[in-house]
Amino acid sequence: MFRNVVTLKQGLKTFSRLSQKRQSVKFAKPTSLVSTITRKININNPFSPIRQFSQAFKRSITTTTTTATTGSTTAPVKKVLINSNKYVGYWLVGTSGLVFGIVILGGLTRLTESGLSITEWKPVTGAIPPLNQKQWEEEFTKYKESPEFKQLNSHIDLDEFKFIFFMEWGHRLWGRGIGLIFILPAIYFTATRKTSSHVNRRLLGLCGLLGLQGFVGWWMVKSGLDQQQLDERKSKPTVSQYRLTAHLGAAFILYMGMLWTGWEIIRESKWVKNPENALQLFKQLDNPALKPLRKMALGMVVLTFITAMTGGMVAGLDAGLMYNTFPRMGDDWLPSNRELLDPFYARKEDKSDLFWRNILENPTTVQLNHRIFAITTFFAVFGFHMYASRNKHIIPRHINRSIHLMMGIVTLQFALGISTLVYMVPISLASAHQAGALALLTISLLCASQLRQPRIPMRLLIGNLYKKQILEQQQQLARGSKILNEVSKLAK
Ligand code: HEM
Repeated sequence: MFRNVVTLKQGLKTFSRLSQKRQSVKFAKPTSLVSTITRKININNPFSPIRQFSQAFKRSITTTTTTATTGSTTAPVKKVLINSNKYVGYWLVGTSGLVFGIVILGGLTRLTESGLSITEWKPVTGAIPPLNQKQWEEEFTKYKESPEFKQLNSHIDLDEFKFIFFMEWGHRLWGRGIGLIFILPAIYFTATRKTSSHVNRRLLGLCGLLGLQGFVGWWMVKSGLDQQQLDERKSKPTVSQYRLTAHLGAAFILYMGMLWTGWEIIRESKWVKNPENALQLFKQLDNPALKPLRKMALGMVVLTFITAMTGGMVAGLDAGLMYNTFPRMGDDWLPSNRELLDPFYARKEDKSDLFWRNILENPTTVQLNHRIFAITTFFAVFGFHMYASRNKHIIPRHINRSIHLMMGIVTLQFALGISTLVYMVPISLASAHQAGALALLTISLLCASQLRQPRIPMRLLIGNLYKKQILEQQQQLARGSKILNEVSKLAK
């Protein structure tokens, strides 16, 4: 196992002192970080925290648990875990796969118009569906009270109701499953000290986001069940596009958080396994010429996320059902100003909200926004790919591969978007387009994560592991030559 610990009390104390000093210390350039801090704190001072920390670190990084001895007394050992267990990383990546799945199922629930079939929010007992005819009848009666049944679905019978019920129930059950699959192992891993403190903080944040997502989901459904809210929005019985997008956005953030942390843990455990390769990679990543690429990669993540959110608004308003031509919108390149900024959507008497209401509530304008962001994303990735191709000699090979893949996925996603629009949002294409958005987000996140420079404690850890490895090799060589000497003496 590669769970590395700092065994000396001194290392721990100085590390915590150092982290308290963080605000006053410049952490801008990881490559020159140690020297920057050292200069600031004065390297000649034997009591300077960084000096003590790095010395303690050098002495004490070990893969075994020992006791720290001060003179003749043996003090209890305090451990600081630098890198988490690799299985924590695999679990996080696996759970993010479940989040991917629930997003697709949620999309299908929306596309089959099943999302408003369960009119109550029962986090625990709701996991059990109606079990007999009487319970089904009761559930159907509750649905019959909803605006969706009264205005759109009054023709459906119990069997059709069962289908839409199971779609929504399946989505909610999957959500509950993710909750358990996330929270129980998270407790286990932290309790058994398989995670570092920095991963613990992330897990806590992800747990909070997961809980919040359940509430956002119900808050979204409520907006489609409440007639008063529908009247205010002048809408047929559907959920609010704002709440749908918030629900989608929270799922995307949760997904990204799990992947980012999972990948980091897996990557770090690979470095620990092979410090020599890791140090070579660090050297490549520390090249200042990679800085623009690193920034661009993060930009791609942000842009893809925003484009996806504008897509959520299109989906929430069913705005994909109009202007089913591309690149033109109808006969023209752009709809008229009158249509894009329609006074119908302004709610204030002085029409001061005309602009933003149209941007967020007028299906024509919302569709145009999504087109603009989608085109921008496509060309941004194209530019990123071109830049990377010109500088491929300085980019590690696995990152180059990810950038090529990103170019492929954005092209596919663009084509899927156009097909979804032109064929008037068939379920299969719309669902594939949603999966494509997540795939694009995944690959841009992967590029950004691969381009990230290693954390400082990781640098120190790998440096020390490498030194230890070299020392062991030298000792082995020395032992070998000693044996040879003995043998040759005997032969003489
Ligand atoms: C390049 C990047 C693109 C990304 C990341 C993206 C992302 C998304 C996302 C996340 C949704 C919401 C899906 C849902 O919640 O069900 C969506 C919906 C949609 N997008 Fe895109 N999209 C892109 C390009 C395009 C293009 C080029 C078009 C066509 C011009 C397009 C047309 C649509 C339509 C019509 C919908 C609504 C589908 C529905 O009602 O389910 N997209 N997009």
